[in-house]
Amino acid sequence: MTDIKIDGPLLNLFENSSIALVLAEVAGDHHLLMVNERFSELTGYGAEDVVGKNCRLLQTSPDGRQASNHEAKAKLRQFLTGDEASVRTPIVNFRKDGTPFVNLLFMSRLTTSGGVTRYIFASQFDISRSNPHLLDQYDQELGGALSRIRPLLEGHNVMLEGTLSTIANSTNAIAQAKVTLAELDRNPTH
Ligand SMILES: Cc1cc2nc3c(=O)[nH]c(=O)nc-3n(C[C@H](O)[C@H](O)[C@H](O)COP(=O)(O)O)c2cc1C
Repeated sequence: MTDIKIDGPLLNLFENSSIALVLAEVAGDHHLLMVNERFSELTGYGAEDVVGKNCRLLQTSPDGRQASNHEAKAKLRQFLTGDEASVRTPIVNFRKDGTPFVNLLFMSRLTTSGGVTRYIFASQFDISRSNPHLLDQYDQELGGALSRIRPLLEGHNVMLEGTLSTIANSTNAIAQAKVTLAELDRNPTH
């Protein structure tokens, strides 16, 4: 049973957002409950492809290519099993058409007043085809989405934890993501 009713204002916020937003359940294997239109535009996967599944499917292309992503996955697992309020990491993902991209993934937890995490909220951004201005704009929109979601959760016995830590050196982070993508083109399994 989900406590959050995914309709009304929360659904509107997701659908009207200009950035990719998703929500997953913590129970079980963190299955996606909802993804918005921007997520589908970014990844090529519609809600019908991914709701009820774990988002790790983005780590493998439809023809079976996979990037190593060891460091990123360790960080995500640490977040999911630990008690940090939020996490942010680049991770190599593949669109439904097989195109790779470096996803700057942000996740934060929705916890009950008793401190139990019930849902994970996340947002995805293609940092490998970006520039510092677009990344700043994305950060502002993500920060705005976080502050608009908070009041919508009142009455649902959950609150959104964490704040958005901005990327210290966005120029550098974008350059690094482009290098990662170029390496992947040369050697698709690494
Ligand atoms: C709400 C939510 C959104 C996620 N979004 C992504 C994503 O966009 N790309 C990705 O590679 N992993 C994403 N993940 C992380 C994976 O689902 C998974 O937790 C991660 O790969 C580490 O666990 P594993 O080692 O069991 O795969 C997301 C997880 C959650 C809970």
